[in-house]
Amino acid sequence: MKIAKLDCPVHTLDNRLLLPAGKELTSEALDELIATNKDTPYQVLSFLEYGTVYQDILRLIQKPPYHVIFDGLKKTLALNLMKKISFILPILESLDLFEERDSYTYRHSLAVFAMSTIMAQDLLEKSEGWIMEAMAGTIHDLGKICVPLKILKKDDPLTAAEKRILEHHALAGFVLLCYYLKDHRSFAAQVAKEHHERRDGSGYPLGISLRDRMVEIIAACDVYDALISPRPFRPTPYDNRTALEEIIEMAKEGKLSWEVVQTLVSHNRKDRPHFQECVVSTEKRGTPPEDNLYGVIVKRDMEKEITCPNCHGSCIKRESYKEGVEYISYKCSSCGKEFDKDDLLNIEMGKHFET
Ligand SMILES: [Fe+2]
Ligand SMILES: [Fe+2]
Repeated sequence: MKIAKLDCPVHTLDNRLLLPAGKELTSEALDELIATNKDTPYQVLSFLEYGTVYQDILRLIQKPPYHVIFDGLKKTLALNLMKKISFILPILESLDLFEERDSYTYRHSLAVFAMSTIMAQDLLEKSEGWIMEAMAGTIHDLGKICVPLKILKKDDPLTAAEKRILEHHALAGFVLLCYYLKDHRSFAAQVAKEHHERRDGSGYPLGISLRDRMVEIIAACDVYDALISPRPFRPTPYDNRTALEEIIEMAKEGKLSWEVVQTLVSHNRKDRPHFQECVVSTEKRGTPPEDNLYGVIVKRDMEKEITCPNCHGSCIKRESYKEGVEYISYKCSSCGKEFDKDDLLNIEMGKHFET
């Protein structure tokens, strides 16, 4: 089994460092982390009764294209199922933070949850536990609290280093959920870790083959909602038809299974065929938005000179070799302190969610 390793540190909402960059997420390391939190009691609150969640979900599912998916009985059914869900306070507070500072992630979290609830009804064996699994859709992106807002909201292409920090949200969410739920085998933690994995192993963070059906449902809803939403790097969203075509393409490439994609398409059809009878055209006729910078990565070396995180003087870049490996460090010309790339990353990530 592949062991995940953190590229960046993980901080809690109140800025406590849980694990540093470079930490391997072995069972022992996670058990140790969970042990530090085992006696902390958390208040548990009904999700739909929290803040404006109910009104926000209602507003969301009444707007296109969700108004077609959640028409009539589907809306009542989905809301009744959502009433069964509760979360501990730190998770709800994270959603508050998204609502306040990153409204896309807040709305997206509600949309992925609502949509996966509908899809799971078709695709999963009905058992008591499935709605509890669908609720993980709400917190799949929880780890974004560990990504600086300037990266989440960047409207220029990302650098390779920024992309690495953005992708850190999958493992960060996993660590945060292990810690708060006091269980490193919880389904919610698994969803946070695996929602960017794909069936053909082309995803991240581990490049494993996605096999769990509910995680795959959440992954498909995640892509669908991201495509039909305006994003800083793509101000014009995909129209619904072109978004569905992109997802059909993912099934063609083996990234998602046909059944999951057929279910998504069937809910977008007025006559709502059973997913197994939903005929999906593989012809691409839509027009993707032109102003799309998604996936564009710019090369940029770390600057020659940076502001000292200690005294705000200027630090000069120094390149050397340690055991044959290039080692880049910075020395401040005012206070004399030295920093390497990991120190700078830890300092930067410690200021998560600051603009
Ligand atoms: Fe994500
Ligand atoms: Fe997402």
